[in-house]
Amino acid sequence: MGFYERQVLPRLVDVALGSRAIGKLRQRAIAGLTGTVLELGFGSGTNMPFYPPSVQRVYAVDPALVARKLAAKRLAASPISVEFVGIDGAAVALDDASVDAAVSTWTLCTIPDVDQALREVRRVLRPGGHLVFLEHGLSDDPKVARRQHRFDALQQRFAGGCHLDRDHAALIAASGLEIEHLERFSIAGPKMLSSMYAGRAGK
Ligand SMILES: C[S@@+](CC[C@H](N)C(=O)[O-])C[C@H]1O[C@@H](n2cnc3c(N)ncnc32)[C@H](O)[C@@H]1O
Repeated sequence: MGFYERQVLPRLVDVALGSRAIGKLRQRAIAGLTGTVLELGFGSGTNMPFYPPSVQRVYAVDPALVARKLAAKRLAASPISVEFVGIDGAAVALDDASVDAAVSTWTLCTIPDVDQALREVRRVLRPGGHLVFLEHGLSDDPKVARRQHRFDALQQRFAGGCHLDRDHAALIAASGLEIEHLERFSIAGPKMLSSMYAGRAGK
């Protein structure tokens, strides 16, 4: 990883995904969670202010060490204990059926082996547990989707491996998790980055 990926990108992400509007989406996505939660792509802890008090512990996975430093204030301000358990969502150091829920926000776009990461989510979720997701991905608009495919390699290069054109509904369903709720909507910003997948998938 170069200087840009290690030092600059985590700070850009912290600002870009730290707005009030995005905060509202985060709050809505994770409002109903309880117990223990695996968070893939914990980053700078941008979800921490929105976890409800019914969450007891968050197991965090993320390779970005600078983001972990940026998370310090949010961690200090939260009553929820956070344990860093790894750097790759595709290899989670937790026992089978050991967490009540998993969370991924703006992260399934970036994990290189996303299929394996979703299998790991399924493995560590207890029966009846849920994955909650809030992700940008492949647009339903064929014109936008064509552009997303065209610019995907460029996006990966400058955004730390982030893909523009992942179909998260298809990826999640392929992992064996069952999508129970899915919302598609757009957020403000460039069309290639604003097509959202938000919902819940159960084990
Ligand atoms: C766009 S950021 C989103 C951060 C945070 N989830 C949020 O909602 O603000 C994508 C995150 O995925 C993390 N990431 C990249 N590869 C990963 C992997 N293999 N496993 C877990 N997280 C990964 C990055 O370090 C980064 O923190």
